[in-house]
Amino acid sequence: MSSTITVLGAGYVGLSTAALLAQAGFKVYLVEPNPSRLDTIKQGRSFFFESGLDPIIKLGIDSGSLLPTDSYEMGVPESDFVFSCVGTPDNPDGSSNLSYVYGAAETALRLMQPNAVYIQKSTVPVGTGKAIIDKFDVEPGRYVSNPEFLREGTALQDTLWFDRIVCGGSDETVLSRVVELYKALEAHRGDIASSAGIKAGTVTGSYITTDLNSAELIKVTANAFLALKISFANSIAKLSDAVDADINGIMDAVGADKRIGRAFLNAGRGYGGGCFPKDVSGLISSGLEHGIDLEIMQAAQQVNESMPGYVIEKLKDRLGGNLSGKKVAVLGLAFKKGTSDTRKSPGVKIANLLDTFGAEVLAYDPQALEEAKEDLRRSVVLHMSIEETLVDCDAVVLATDWEELVSSPAQIFADHLNSGAVVLDAVNAYKNYIDLENLGFDYTGIGR
Ligand code: UDX
Repeated sequence: MSSTITVLGAGYVGLSTAALLAQAGFKVYLVEPNPSRLDTIKQGRSFFFESGLDPIIKLGIDSGSLLPTDSYEMGVPESDFVFSCVGTPDNPDGSSNLSYVYGAAETALRLMQPNAVYIQKSTVPVGTGKAIIDKFDVEPGRYVSNPEFLREGTALQDTLWFDRIVCGGSDETVLSRVVELYKALEAHRGDIASSAGIKAGTVTGSYITTDLNSAELIKVTANAFLALKISFANSIAKLSDAVDADINGIMDAVGADKRIGRAFLNAGRGYGGGCFPKDVSGLISSGLEHGIDLEIMQAAQQVNESMPGYVIEKLKDRLGGNLSGKKVAVLGLAFKKGTSDTRKSPGVKIANLLDTFGAEVLAYDPQALEEAKEDLRRSVVLHMSIEETLVDCDAVVLATDWEELVSSPAQIFADHLNSGAVVLDAVNAYKNYIDLENLGFDYTGIGR
């Protein structure tokens, strides 16, 4: 299949999608208005860290199959498919700001060939596709909702070895054409994974075609349910703390029931990132718009928002009821391991809260220092290594479970922390915490 594709927006989703499709034999234009991001991509690199992405961007640029540009006019008129992957930031009231989604649709739909297909990958509230079709007078069958399920840190593998590809629209033939694109990607996935230097996956996923509104709702429902699982685990973790039980063991046993499953039941400092917080508030807003009160999601959101404060209270308690003047190291500023993304990152929130309560805060992350700077209070001091960060600290908070941070902490802690320091594992990741206790540290997790 020798189709030409334009991808609008070079964020996590757009850049990964464009680089992968360029490796599957398509000619791919990638439209990105930000000049510095565009420049970085043209040099064959990503402007964020994502495992395996740089090598395939480079291959795409060198071979000419990946064509970054700031102009819609360059690729859209000759494209058979246009993927919209533009950002959907939060409005102050928690709903999604769709100005980029509408702006991209308006410009691209005006330039597209009559039978080209517009594919919405950005996460949008249910009803957005229908609104775009009405507003810009699009032939309904040419608009497809194809929500994205990739996780940052495993974006390429999730796309190549997907659980499901969902395509929603009203024209069966158009939906099949979109499915064919993904089948081409699937056919090349072994080669692409080895070019990217990532491990091949094992899942055999399914293709699901459905109507437009259902496709839009599938995406947010899936993320909201995962967020619900995490907040549920965190609620039980608080109870577990109160009765001196072990949340990791509890969730291992509960998750062993196949009907429940162990995934996304890890308690800790709560979820962050560009998706869960936004998708949960987006779903709540969609409910309200249609007179449906999604109280269960409001509860999940409240539990999540309480978690950084819960971490601080726990630490304060362990440090004798006062954080003022205490030297505290925060390890992990990315919202999860494997990414440099710090959007709505619990680690950043914890560092800022500690600073607000008068602690002297030192912080480290293997990848996210640069991105964290924007959201951290100015008095939080960033360091380039774990060792430097820990020197003479009264406490350390582990906020992201990077391998480097959890693999062998005991000796590093013994060499650098003050004796008897508090080790607050806010991601419940230290397996051998007995070693830390044997060295005289005061270890505690969340519900552990
Ligand atoms: C998520 C969805 O998983 C993905 O399918 C969707 O397309 C985009 O949103 P992502 O935000 O990249 O992906 O990260 P994910 O791995 O889902 O983690 C989200 C947050 O939840 C992180 O802060 C993570 O630390 C936290 N988390 C995850 C927990 O606190 N506990 C868990 O058990 C799992």
